Order: sequence, then C-alpha cells, then structure tokens
Amino acid sequence: MGIHKLRRFVGTIAELVDHAPRESRLIDRGLDALRELVRDDDWLPDAYAAPSPERYQQYLLYADARQRFSVVSFVWGPGQQTPVHDHTVWGLIGVLRGAEYAQPYAHDAAGALHPLGREVLLQRGEVEAVSPTLGDIHRVRNAYDDRVSVSIHVYGANIGAVRRFTYPADASPKPFISGYSNDVLPNFWDLSKEPNAS
Ligand SMILES: [Fe+2]
Repeated sequence: MGIHKLRRFVGTIAELVDHAPRESRLIDRGLDALRELVRDDDWLPDAYAAPSPERYQQYLLYADARQRFSVVSFVWGPGQQTPVHDHTVWGLIGVLRGAEYAQPYAHDAAGALHPLGREVLLQRGEVEAVSPTLGDIHRVRNAYDDRVSVSIHVYGANIGAVRRFTYPADASPKPFISGYSNDVLPNFWDLSKEPNAS
C-alpha cells in the first residue's frame, strides 16, 4: 500500500493553502502535486474505489480542519455521469484509473447556458482545473461503458457541504449539497507501520 502518498499530497495542499498564493499559482502548484499523486495507481484503498450500480460515488478522503480544502475520490460505474453542475470554489481533477469526458458549459450574453466547445477527454494520469474564474460549470462522465473509472479531486472548501447548483435543460438551476458516499475516512496517520515515514 502506498497510502503515504495521500498523506504527502494532503501536506502539500495544506502548505499551499497556508501560504494563500494567488488562485492561479495555487492551481498550478496543486496540479503539479495532483499529477504526481495520480501517476501511480497503487495507493487508493479499495473501499474508496468501489462503484455503485445506482450512481457515481464521491468518497471523502480528507477534509482540512478549517474546511479550507477537501480531497475526494470520484468513482464512476460503467456509463455513469454527473448532471451539469457548478462548484463555486476552485477544484483540481486528476484521473487515477480509466478515463473521463468533461463537457464545459458557459453562459452567453443573454444569460443562457450552452456547451462550450467539445467534450474534453481526460486520460489516466491527466489533470485539469475548474473554478469560478477559469470556468466552473461542466458535466462529467465515465469515458467507458464497460469499466470503472476513478478520479481524485481537490476543492477549495469542504465540497460535500457546499451549496451549489445543477443546471437541468429547460429548467431553473436547482440547488444541491452533494454530501459524501462514505461514513469512515482512510487512516493514513499510523506512521508506526512505515519506517522512516513523515
Ligand atoms: Fe465537477
């Protein structure tokens, strides 16, 4: 198990958030750290990579004590997708297993929401960012109809508790609070099992 990789990642993000750089710098540095985290698929415990036939799962892996950021695993069953939704805070996305398609959306001058360009394919090991300044509305789906995909996300808040919106076609935006799929968090703090760990 390489769970220490998650501990190190969380430490890096905490340090970045502590120093509160400009959002663009935080996102650049955060994407570097996330790219490194998703490079090897050897650290996420199976319990946080388990799909559900009902819907995609969002497992909390870590929440900052001051709710300044959270880290989650997103698990897509075959063919599963999100509704069109926003985040209201910065978010980093890295694909650990499989692949996903993201379709960005943007409002036009009249305030109507439209797809912005084509779907973007994010392959295993690739990362991207969302935020209210970069573009915050998208729909994401598993790129595969026959296998599970898993991505690791970091958000600039306790994302499962943030009041945000989905954007149904031909209807008003609908408020939602996503919550999390798990009640128990991974324990990556037992350094006694890792000689020379920090
Ligand atoms: Fe999203």
